[in-house]
Amino acid sequence: METGIALAKKVAGQKAVEYIKAGMTVGLGTGSTAWWAIQEIGARVKAGLDINAIATSDQSYELAVALQIPLITFEEITQIDVDIDGADEVDRQLQLIKGGGGALLREKIIAAASQQMIVAVDEHKLVDTLGKFPLPVEVVVFGWEMTARKLAALGTQTVLREKNGQPFITDNGNYIIDCAFNAITDPATLHTRLNAIPGVAENGLFVNYAHTVIVGYENGTVNTLY
Ligand code: A5P
Repeated sequence: METGIALAKKVAGQKAVEYIKAGMTVGLGTGSTAWWAIQEIGARVKAGLDINAIATSDQSYELAVALQIPLITFEEITQIDVDIDGADEVDRQLQLIKGGGGALLREKIIAAASQQMIVAVDEHKLVDTLGKFPLPVEVVVFGWEMTARKLAALGTQTVLREKNGQPFITDNGNYIIDCAFNAITDPATLHTRLNAIPGVAENGLFVNYAHTVIVGYENGTVNTLY
């Protein structure tokens, strides 16, 4: 039985699944909140719900396979009906920081292909101003040191993400540089500046992607923000 933050993630993830209808193509997000959504989708598929899904990470792909959720690729579809994903920060305008799990590039490709992006978060992800959570930026490995210098020149402290003492490698074979901006007052402009740096594959600012944010609370209730 989940309590506290785990319960908040569970109720938010499960609530988001209510946006899925029969016949839809669904984006499967990544992370501990999306995990609950994928579990719920798996249960509904087992009970007869007819959908196709496309995953934002190898991790979510493998979970979907294990739950026997039918998977599809961009060879077969041109758009996704609904994308359900988590976030690391959400502000009052529903702008997001994502990529804490390192899946931001595929997450953004799938969000950009989706008619609707439903974001499920626990209450602790809500912020007045984005940026306390270090912004993940996915960069190609070649010349990453130079890319990191150009990022730092935008006024941030950069840290190459590591896992077990080695650089963290994304599903796309890239590195992640976590950028401590502290306060991001103009996410749209920063997004443009970041992606203009050669070597940046994508950054974790999701500006004007989220249609709906489902917030789960530690007391087990949910609230929907539009
Ligand atoms: C994965 O790269 C991220 O964008 C996640 O969606 C984000 O980190 C939220 O993760 P949790 O739901 O585990 O907090």
